[in-house]
This record gives sequence, structure tokens and C-alpha cells, in this order.
Amino acid sequence: MLDNPVLDPKRIPRHVAIIMDGNGRWAKERNLPRIMGHKAGSESVKDVVKTARKLNLEVLTLYAFSTENWKRPAFEVQGLMTLLKTYLKSELQNLLGNSISLRCIGEIENLPSDVRKILTEVIQGTTPKTDEKPSLILNLALSYGSRSEIVRAARAMAEKCVSGQFEPQDFSEKFFASHLYTSGLPDPDLLIRTGGEARLSNFLLWQLSYAELYITETMWPDFRGARFIEAIRDYQSRERRFGQTSEQLQAE
Ligand code: FPP
Repeated sequence: MLDNPVLDPKRIPRHVAIIMDGNGRWAKERNLPRIMGHKAGSESVKDVVKTARKLNLEVLTLYAFSTENWKRPAFEVQGLMTLLKTYLKSELQNLLGNSISLRCIGEIENLPSDVRKILTEVIQGTTPKTDEKPSLILNLALSYGSRSEIVRAARAMAEKCVSGQFEPQDFSEKFFASHLYTSGLPDPDLLIRTGGEARLSNFLLWQLSYAELYITETMWPDFRGARFIEAIRDYQSRERRFGQTSEQLQAE
């Protein structure tokens, strides 16, 4: 239930994607090791998920680990994997209790086997058994890179062509999108990036085509529910024209 008077319940974005940046700088400002920034960032994840559910979002996609993040020092990568496992183990009951369904996108096969195991358990445990819609889909991008996702989709489509299942002229945007990890999910309406930098960082390049962008100087560990609501309020002040004119939209 939406209990925030500053938001219009009729214009809540269906899908919000977030680049959770600034954990390292947050820690540095406090003379803490980087991993402490990621740990504080896990608390923001919990708060933002709780808020997303309250606001009736359909999908929340969080960029938790990119394909490029494998290049970080082994100690940091290990720490992030441990935090992810801790999060999944400790949140399972909470996700189930709130009918939040976990999904993930990315090269999951590259994650350590213990992380894959708990991830699969939580995904299977929280996938609705009936046709019932979950109250929220929490979609974690893990070992995710958008270019590699697009190449993977192109390869799958090429294979279908070679085997004679499809003809090149049958390809469409819809067909292409159905080969991406995000198949079946609506495109993000809003992309939030914390930490102040204005980059896409190889995130959802196809899916973000029409998303509104919101960049905030707030570092991810300081980005809690109230800041999330502020971002959605800003989104609600935008006019989404999808290439049309303002006058055309008003006439509709
Ligand atoms: C970017 O900050 C953040 C990451 C690479 C990892 C994000 C991970 C979490 C928020 C915690 C674990 C995730 C879950 C889902 C429980 P950065 O390290 O690049 O920050 P900087 O730009 O300030 O260095």
C-alpha cells in the first residue's frame, strides 16, 4: 500500500533499475576498509527493497556485481560474494513473508558454486507456485554485462536461424528482447545511479532505451527509502514523450 502523500499512486514506475555506486568512497570518507562500504550498502538494499514493495513497484533491478568487477582485488571480490550469501540467507524468510520473488540476470555460471547454490535455492523458493503475481520481483544483476548479454542473445538467434527454426526476416525487437536475460520483464522506466557519476557502465543498454535517468550525489550506503521516494517523485515530474510532442500527449 502506498502511504506516502508526496507520490501519485497512479504514476508509480513499473520497473526501477539502480546502479548502486559509491560504497568505496563512503568507506574512504570514514577511514574504513572498502568492504565496510559494501556492508553498509547491503543495509540500503534491504531498505530500498522494503520501500519498493510498499510503493507497489513490479520490478526492482539492482546492479550488484558487473562482469568488470571480477578485475577488483581478490579480497574485495571475496568479500562481496560473502555479503551476497549473507544477504540471501538472512533475507529468504523476509522475501517469502512479503511474497517477493527473486530473479537474477548475468553470467551466473561464473559465480562461486556456494553462491550459485544459495542463489538457486532462494530463486526456486520464492518463485510463485501458481499463476499468482509476486508483490515485487527483485532482480539481481550478478556478473552482469550488457554487451555480453546482447552478444549471447545474437548467438542464440543465429543458432535458431542456422537450424532453420527462424528466418532472418522474422526477427523483430520483441523477438530480440525475448532472448535477453530480462525476457518477460517490462523495460525499466527509471534508472537511478548513486555516487554522482553519469555513466551507464555496461548496464541494460537495450532495456534502458526509454528510461528516465536520475543521478544523485548520495553514496549508495546513504541511499535509503526516503531518498528512493525522492527519486520517484522526481520521475513523476517528468513528461515521458517517447518521441511524440507534448501537444500530442495532451491531446491523448
Ligand atoms: C559499487 O561501489 C558497488 C558495487 C561494485 C557492489 C554493490 C554491492 C552491494 C551494495 C552490497 C551487496 C549486494 C547485495 C545485493 C546484498 P564502488 O565500490 O564502485 O564505489 P566507489 O565508486 O565509491 O569506489
